[in-house]
Amino acid sequence: MSNASTPAISANSYTGYGQAIAPPDYDHELAEIGPGTPCGEFFRRYWHPVALTSEIGELPKPVRILGEDLVLFRTSQKADGQIGLVHRNCPHRRASLVFGKCEERGIRCCYHGWLFAPDGEILETPGEDDDAGPALDVRARTRLGAYPVVEFRGLVFAYLGPPDAMPEFPYFDAYDVPDIIMRPYRVDYDCNWLQVLDAIMDPIHTSFLHSQNAGAQFSEGMAEIGELEIFERGLQFLGSNTRRVDDHVWVRVNELILPNFTQAGAAFQADGTRSHFFGRSSFTRWVVPVDDEHSISLAWANFGERGDPEKYNNQEGCELIEQGEIVDRTWEERQRRPADAEAVEGMGPISAHKGENLMPTDRGVSLYRRRIRRLVRDLAEGKPLPQPQQISGEAVRTYGQDSVLKMPLKNEIDDGKFLKDVGNAVMNMQFEAEHLPLEERDAQIIAALAAMEERGTP
Ligand code: FES
Ligand SMILES: [Fe+2]
Repeated sequence: MSNASTPAISANSYTGYGQAIAPPDYDHELAEIGPGTPCGEFFRRYWHPVALTSEIGELPKPVRILGEDLVLFRTSQKADGQIGLVHRNCPHRRASLVFGKCEERGIRCCYHGWLFAPDGEILETPGEDDDAGPALDVRARTRLGAYPVVEFRGLVFAYLGPPDAMPEFPYFDAYDVPDIIMRPYRVDYDCNWLQVLDAIMDPIHTSFLHSQNAGAQFSEGMAEIGELEIFERGLQFLGSNTRRVDDHVWVRVNELILPNFTQAGAAFQADGTRSHFFGRSSFTRWVVPVDDEHSISLAWANFGERGDPEKYNNQEGCELIEQGEIVDRTWEERQRRPADAEAVEGMGPISAHKGENLMPTDRGVSLYRRRIRRLVRDLAEGKPLPQPQQISGEAVRTYGQDSVLKMPLKNEIDDGKFLKDVGNAVMNMQFEAEHLPLEERDAQIIAALAAMEERGTP
């Protein structure tokens, strides 16, 4: 005999229905980056990496960047031919140049053989009489859409904005860290750029996603939450996280230079258990929008004493540094040990930002989004945009770093305040040294860190 009584349920506390019929929207102003959108225009005022040099072979490579279908190719005149980044469709009758042929002087369309230089100039229209009016006219009147590119240490950068607003190609101090090996890598994300970029200004997720959730993905000490501080300096946002690991204090700094340049402390080199002074970033990385629902991380992973250990200098190592786990895993592995890809792609192709509940620990995310919104609106109002490269020929100073100091716990003082003070002192050392030449800057910061460890107080 069954028991006829059913459990009592109070329906009022369930909100599924109400939330289902009025789902939250996404932030259109920041998430949409296609040609002509306000944020797309903003992105098109800066240089971005668009591919690895190693991805350009003898065949044209289709790429999609900022919502635009393009073709990347290399002229075949010599091993290091010129790189072109051009619109995908031929200006004759719109055939795709993905099926074009890379030649000595440019790319030749498969359909009627027109030849285009890397800068888009029409060089040949072979089915037509070269010297007759129509051929002369089309060459004078039109070009294949093309963008300026710079190949630099294994990454191909492009500028997709108006020619008269092209900024200097920025040069970061990260390119000149002594004895560092820079390995180019890419990781693709099936989601909007903003949710991928958010993680860099969210240093606390390291303690949960990468540590407490399923065990350490980076070094053990990262499970400690630490004292978080955010510094806003023009286009630059710095999130310092200062943790105690037994007798040591570990200051790790995540960095964002708008719109999308990121660095952080080491993923594996420092673990908080031994002194380490002014280690530099694990990666020098850009989060590049492909379209509204896809993005790419294009980066160098940095190896050496002041980067990550050289045993990670392979594709798998780069993926671990980028996001905590390798990319190609079974669904079950992804569920059991989620990493950044699972966290950010799981939000959906474009996260419903209006359904977020931002907390004090999300301050970095709120601050940088607000600043991007301001810049997007400034551009729409015709105001000039700041660039990372402030002084021509001077390396842009960056702060993504890692320092560990032996400073044992003292019973008589509040350790939270002590950690905060140490973190701020480490940041100030960097700010005070920023105008020095790079070698002197590093020497001064390292000496100041050693002196603070010796002293035992910030
Ligand atoms: S469509 Fe390209 S040459 Fe005709
Ligand atoms: Fe992460």
